[in-house]
Amino acid sequence: MTPVALPQAYLDVTSAFMNERFPQATPKKVAGDVQRMSDAFTADREELPGSYLNHPPSRSAYLAFFHPQQVLRALSAIQETRRRAELRGLWPKPDVLRVVDLGAGLGAMTWALLASGDLPEQIEITLVDHQKSALSDARDLVLRVAAALRPGSPPPRVRTAVSQLQPWLDKAAAEGWRYDIALLGGVLNEIKPPWAPMIQCVLAILDGPAPGGGLMLIVEPALPPFARSLVEARDELVGSTTTIAPCTHARTCPLLRLRKDWCFTVRPARLPPFVIEQARRLGHQNEEVRYAFWAATPRAGAALPEHPEDRHGRIVSDPVPGGQVLCVAGERERRDERAPGLRRGALLRR
Ligand SMILES: C[S@@+](CC[C@H](N)C(=O)[O-])C[C@H]1O[C@@H](n2cnc3c(N)ncnc32)[C@H](O)[C@@H]1O
Repeated sequence: MTPVALPQAYLDVTSAFMNERFPQATPKKVAGDVQRMSDAFTADREELPGSYLNHPPSRSAYLAFFHPQQVLRALSAIQETRRRAELRGLWPKPDVLRVVDLGAGLGAMTWALLASGDLPEQIEITLVDHQKSALSDARDLVLRVAAALRPGSPPPRVRTAVSQLQPWLDKAAAEGWRYDIALLGGVLNEIKPPWAPMIQCVLAILDGPAPGGGLMLIVEPALPPFARSLVEARDELVGSTTTIAPCTHARTCPLLRLRKDWCFTVRPARLPPFVIEQARRLGHQNEEVRYAFWAATPRAGAALPEHPEDRHGRIVSDPVPGGQVLCVAGERERRDERAPGLRRGALLRR
C-alpha cells in the first residue's frame, strides 16, 4: 500500500493559520495541550468538556496534532471509497456538489474530500457542529485550503450550522435539504450507541435521484467499541443500503459473532514532523494511520459489486498462527500460513 500523505498546501495553510490565530501557542504549550487532550481522548474521556474545541489551547492542539491525522485517515478512507464507488458508477458527479460535514470540528473530512481528486467546479459545503468557535475556524480553514488546492476555481460556498446533530438532521429532513455526500469523522464515538437511528437520519438527507442516491462516509477510531458499534449499525441497515467499503460483500459482518476480532484498516502514512515528534513522545505509532470506516449509499442493490463477492476479500487480522484471517462473502477464511503478511484492510482477489 502506498503511504497516504498530506498535500504541501495543507501544511502551509495550517502553519499560517496557527501563527495568525493562536500566536500564544508555542510548541512547548501545544505539546502540553496535546498530552492533556490525548489522555482525555483515550482513558479519561469524561474529563474532556463537551465544548473542548471552543477553548483556544485545545483548538490549537487539535489543529497541530489530531487534525492532520484525521485528514490522513479521512483521505485514505475517501481514496478507497472513491476508487471503488467509481468502479460501480456510485461516485456522485453532479454539476454542483453538495457536501455536509457532520460533527465537522475543524473540517478534517472536508479537507480530505477536497484532496481526493477532481471535483465539480461548484461546491457547496455545510459544516455542522455544536462548538461555535471550532466551526468559525473550520470555515476559514476550508476556504483557505480550497483556494490553495483549486486555484482558478470559484471558492466553495461554505455554510455553518451551530447545532447538535439530531435536531439539525430533523430540520434538514423537514426542510427538504439534500446532499450528494455526507461526511462524519470521529463524531459518532462522542454519541452513545446504538448509532443506526442517527445514521438513518443521515441517509435520509442524501439525494435520492443521484446515481446511488448519494454517498455517506463515516470514519471512526480503530478501537474495538467504536469499530463494533459501527459494524452493528451497518448490519442493522444492510438491507436498505449498498455498502461501498470496507466490505467486499453485501452480507452481515462475520466479525460481530466473535469477541476478539474487529474490522479496521491500517495504512502507511507520512505524518508531519511535529506530529511525529509528539507521537513518539506519547508512545503512539508514527508511520501509519488506523481507522474503522463505512461508506454506503442509501439504496439497496444500487449497483453490482465491483468484483464477484466469492472472489474478493479483505484482510481482517494481523498475521496469526494458522494463517491471516480474510473476510470473503461474509465468512472468515484463513490464508495459507506461509503467505507473506499483509496489512489489515488489504483487498485480495482470486
Ligand atoms: C473528534 S472531533 C472530530 C472533528 C472532525 N470531524 C475531525 O474528523 O477531525 C468530534 C466533533 O464532533 C462534534 N460533536 C460531538 N457530538 C456532537 C453532537 N451531538 N452534535 C454536534 N456535534 C457533535 C464535536 O463538537 C467535535 O467537533
